[in-house]
Amino acid sequence: MKKSFNVVVLISGNGSNLQAIIDAVKAKELDINLCLVLSNKADAFGLQRAAKAKIPTKVIEHSQYSTRLDFDLEMMKAIDEYKPDLVVLAGFMRILSKEFVQHYDNRMINIHPSLLPKYKGTNTHQRVLDSGDKEHGLSIHYVTNELDSGPILKQVKITVNSDDTAESLAKRLLIEEHKAYPEVIKQLCYKDKYCLK
Ligand code: GRF
Repeated sequence: MKKSFNVVVLISGNGSNLQAIIDAVKAKELDINLCLVLSNKADAFGLQRAAKAKIPTKVIEHSQYSTRLDFDLEMMKAIDEYKPDLVVLAGFMRILSKEFVQHYDNRMINIHPSLLPKYKGTNTHQRVLDSGDKEHGLSIHYVTNELDSGPILKQVKITVNSDDTAESLAKRLLIEEHKAYPEVIKQLCYKDKYCLK
């Protein structure tokens, strides 16, 4: 049995989901090795969260590369140094090349703020309101070549209230995201028998 379950987290912004994972590790609820936080944006606040938790960080700015594949290959080089068992997309706002997705086949997951297959892409909270849906939610799924479409690992629903706005929905859903993402990572880690209960 391997000693640790190596996890690399990719972010582009605030990193509140990253924080939830860091907190679960600190609380010993999650027995993983957070080995790298990689961002495509130098000003992503999540980088500060990672640095505070003493997790190595790296910035690879997509704007510096002429093609998507060049950027992805550079990311792969940085990620693979840590031999990840799992790559976690936590608010990473770039579309990935098929080469990148293939390379991490079956070991890369994403969290998406909608009840997939509904509302793939962005602006999900407003689209839920515009459609008059009574429920909203989150999906955690394996990443495949089709955007927001891989096999679903977990979904959590919330009720849409008559006075909800896109902001209030986002805020309530994030609370659920912060519980669900560490739970799914834990399940995957146990499944691979890397972590002890
Ligand atoms: C979350 O809503 C997540 O579902 C989506 O991007 C957002 C990231 O938020 N993929 P944060 O950076 O983790 O705060």
